[in-house]
Amino acid sequence: MTDPAARPDPRLLFFAGSARQNSFNKRLARLGAAIAEANSIPSTFADLADYPMPLYNGDLEAAEGQPENAHKLKNLMKAHTGVFILSPEYNASFTPLLKNTLDWISHIRDEGEAPMEVYRTRVFALGSASNGGTGGLRGLSQLRLVLELGIGALVLPDQFLLPRAADAYDEHGHLKNKDQQEQLKRVIQKLARAARVLHG
Ligand SMILES: Cc1cc2nc3c(=O)[nH]c(=O)nc-3n(C[C@H](O)[C@H](O)[C@H](O)COP(=O)(O)O)c2cc1C
Repeated sequence: MTDPAARPDPRLLFFAGSARQNSFNKRLARLGAAIAEANSIPSTFADLADYPMPLYNGDLEAAEGQPENAHKLKNLMKAHTGVFILSPEYNASFTPLLKNTLDWISHIRDEGEAPMEVYRTRVFALGSASNGGTGGLRGLSQLRLVLELGIGALVLPDQFLLPRAADAYDEHGHLKNKDQQEQLKRVIQKLARAARVLHG
């Protein structure tokens, strides 16, 4: 049995399924990374606006391979053991930006890798911010299905929902409601624990 002390420290990647500059979900992803760091969990925030990719097209892929940004983001995922995705809800699903990103990465298979290895060897947690009353719950159900059924990812049952997002943040980007911020911290800590166990 592996000595628990010898297990690698979890490293968490946070990103949002929105490229919008003032995205509520990006703010949540940034806050999540800051909360993790404050709790001694090394973390990175990534902005999908920095990883633009064309809409998936099989002809384009056959001619040019996967976009360089898909490789970069996949390698960034690989450098972390847990991934926290904050996803807006679009018409009861998640964003085309997020689906396109997940799809491109799912087609990268570097030498010596099993199919979708980067997804199958990380732990995921989900959250959503929405101005509506249900906080993006329906979108996360769809995202969970794609991650678990489509790409074989292990997704924590715990998730974080932020309804009425326009009024939820204070001027420092923290949640005004301290119970909500505590709840987000608990999901992050659980993700870190699960990542440690999976990679132990
Ligand atoms: C095409 C579209 C569909 C949307 N559908 C929903 C929805 O089903 N439920 C919801 O709560 N909000 C919905 N919204 C509102 C988004 O949740 C809101 O714009 C949110 O701020 C987007 O996330 P972001 O701030 O991270 O960019 C929709 C927005 C767009 C553009």
